[in-house]
Amino acid sequence: MKTKISVYIATSLDGFIARADGGMDWLEHDAGDDDYGFAEFMASVDTVVMGRLTYEFVVSTGLWPYEGKRMVVMSSTLGADDAAPHLAGKVEFLAMEPLELAAKLAGEGAKHVYIDGGLTIQRFLRERLIDELILSRMPVLLGSGVPLFGELDRDVLLRHVETQGFASGLVQSRYAAVR
Ligand SMILES: NC(=O)c1ccc[n+]([C@@H]2O[C@H](COP(=O)([O-])OP(=O)(O)OC[C@H]3O[C@@H](n4cnc5c(N)ncnc54)[C@H](OP(=O)(O)O)[C@@H]3O)[C@@H](O)[C@H]2O)c1
Repeated sequence: MKTKISVYIATSLDGFIARADGGMDWLEHDAGDDDYGFAEFMASVDTVVMGRLTYEFVVSTGLWPYEGKRMVVMSSTLGADDAAPHLAGKVEFLAMEPLELAAKLAGEGAKHVYIDGGLTIQRFLRERLIDELILSRMPVLLGSGVPLFGELDRDVLLRHVETQGFASGLVQSRYAAVR
């Protein structure tokens, strides 16, 4: 079975995943008991690939919702010795082109890979490696920040699968890549 590669990410209505200084306060709101399908999504994932900046943000939160997953951090500046002490041995740091990484993970048995981090997602999108995009839009305009999407050499065509609105105002859409 081919390895599936998914994105599950939240953006502001104007398409930012963080403030310019990395601030994520706009994402914190009372969602009640709703996790917007994150636990179910994570249960289907065996491998998480994130950019170095996303990894540093996650480490700063003190939370680690990836227990039991293969964890890969894309970085040309960090190595195994730079892992946060409590994550030593749990995280791999790799500097590779997305195509090379996707082939490596598939060859090593990955079935479902979760890609996180704006620049990292953009690199995978450019190589047409994303199979599924689950996008949660928050009802807020930030005006500036870290964009989810970036330049492309040609269009990426997506098929809309479903959209769900939540009482909190979050709207979640699922897209599949058109091959
Ligand atoms: N809203 C959300 O749901 C959400 C989700 C995730 C992240 N975020 C936020 O978004 C921000 C991070 O996103 P971002 O776009 O700035 O960066 P990012 O994708 O998390 O990280 C970018 C870094 O990843 C490394 N990298 C990526 N591809 C690589 C490759 N092929 N080979 C080697 N290294 C590679 C590079 O690190 P080096 O410089 O070390 O080479 C690059 O600087 C953070 O503020 C985070 O909190 C928000």
